[in-house]
Amino acid sequence: VDHYAVMGNPIEHSKSPRIHAMFAESVGHKLSYNTQLVPVNDFEEAVTRFFDNGGYLGLSVTVPFKEQAWTLSVVRTARAEKAGAVNTLWMDEQGDLNGDNTDGLGLVQDLAVNNGVSIKGARVLILGAGGAVRGVLEPILSQEPSELVIANRTVSKAETLAGLFPEKPVKACGFSELEGSFDIIINGTSASLHGDLPPVPVTVIASATCCYDMMYSASHTVFNQWALDHGAGKVIDGLGMLVEQAAEQFAIWRGVRPETTPVLEMLRKELP
Ligand code: ATR
Repeated sequence: VDHYAVMGNPIEHSKSPRIHAMFAESVGHKLSYNTQLVPVNDFEEAVTRFFDNGGYLGLSVTVPFKEQAWTLSVVRTARAEKAGAVNTLWMDEQGDLNGDNTDGLGLVQDLAVNNGVSIKGARVLILGAGGAVRGVLEPILSQEPSELVIANRTVSKAETLAGLFPEKPVKACGFSELEGSFDIIINGTSASLHGDLPPVPVTVIASATCCYDMMYSASHTVFNQWALDHGAGKVIDGLGMLVEQAAEQFAIWRGVRPETTPVLEMLRKELP
């Protein structure tokens, strides 16, 4: 059978094996997909060892290795190039390591297809300026929002990211400088990991605002609860993004994009 894996550190709570097993079953493919805990200094060696075995065809890459995966990739897709991070690796016929980043497309798909929220013409605010945010900027901008504002605690990091897209309507600022309301607000800070909120003025929210937290949890995330408390019309968490980015990976490796709705419903039921 064909072998796939996800490498990260930590990795034991990864949902990727479950997601890819459900995809494989749904399209009738036989494959194995497991987790590999990689010591922080051993990523390159682990990748080389993985692809040296016949039948080991593709890797998912997660924290903290996405930037290293980008460096190791000999061939990168345009969106991975801009993202500065790679979450999908495979070997081509020439034996060159290829890298893509499916996170942004996963986010856009979850918004547009699963939730009917269109980015085109929307005023979009993204909170945070770390790796998670950089990874999704190009796919968001390709949907042609009227404006994209990147707000971050450390303003210089937001400015650096905005500077990657000089030809697009992108602005950078600090949280306290935010003015007016937005159609879509995406939380890409890691603040919610610690149960914290980015200090954003409530005026960014209007009744038609859709708030999207890249994190997910069984009940509303701290950010989404805050958004609802201040009148946001709709809140979405990142579970759908996780499933959609995995479906893009599966399509790259296997040539067929599986149905995501049943997988998303199953995962939602299984959340603790
Ligand atoms: P990731 O790979 O998850 O993006 P990261 O690169 O460390 O991780 O980025 C974390 C992001 O969350 C940054 O934008 C960080 O803000 P700074 O750039 O100012 O450090 C943001 N962040 C983390 N904790 C936060 C908090 N308590 N309040 C606001 N922003 C926070």
